[in-house]
Amino acid sequence: MELVQQINTATLPQHLAIIMDGNGRWAKQKGLLRALGHESGTKSVRTTVESCAKLGVKNLTLYAFSTENWNRPKLEVDTLMKLLISSLKKEIKTLQSNNIKLNAIGNLTNLPSNVQKELQEVIQKTAENTRMTLTLALSYGAREELIQAVKKISNKVKNNIISEEAIDESIINQHLYTHNLPDVDLVIRTSGEHRISNFLLWQIAYAEFYFTDVLWPDFSEDHLYEAIISYQKRERRFGKTSEQIIP
Ligand code: IPE
Ligand code: IPE
Ligand code: MG
Repeated sequence: MELVQQINTATLPQHLAIIMDGNGRWAKQKGLLRALGHESGTKSVRTTVESCAKLGVKNLTLYAFSTENWNRPKLEVDTLMKLLISSLKKEIKTLQSNNIKLNAIGNLTNLPSNVQKELQEVIQKTAENTRMTLTLALSYGAREELIQAVKKISNKVKNNIISEEAIDESIINQHLYTHNLPDVDLVIRTSGEHRISNFLLWQIAYAEFYFTDVLWPDFSEDHLYEAIISYQKRERRFGKTSEQIIP
């Protein structure tokens, strides 16, 4: 039986988040420049996005560039920004034909203005699409996201827009970049690293984790299906006992 047939489409993760890691090592192994690893990684982005949409995943979030990634050599940062623009220009067709809405989270004002412009254009053009929301985490850091949420909330408390007593999980959710997205159900990280690297700290509170040694440019549809099959075999107890889940 093909892997995809082992997936139960009724219990898909509502929100899948992927830390796409290993482009540099993929290139190095082949004796290529890191830039070619990133370029090759864009192919995995396309197949993953299309496969998720076809399966019926409603929300896919891809970690594409972290706040810490600004510390990479300028040449690499420039390459990544150029690649982002060319991918947005090229993939708008894929997004439209698959009815996918683009969204972006992160400190977007730090991105070069041509990237911001292209991003806003694709976001606007795909705004009415309904099959899946694809969120790109760009210049994204979870700690920065929490800091800006705390600032916004404290400002509202100071101006009597909300009371301190009213601050709850829902208020915090509303002030995160991800305010319109559900909690993350499954996080996949490629390349054998077992860490979060400042990604969605609040939203992953009860997520399942799937780590694979596969480097991002080699991540195929079947690797995605394997991750989802693993997720579907798990019992998510949310603090309860197993007996409470399956009486
Ligand atoms: C992931 O691949 C892409 C980004 C972080 C932008 P890396 O560039 O981190 O690849 P490795 O970890 O060096 O192999
Ligand atoms: C995390 O990967 C960020 C992205 C995938 C965009 P990194 O390669 O930057 O993470 P660290 O530095 O190894 O933790
Ligand atoms: Mg890396």
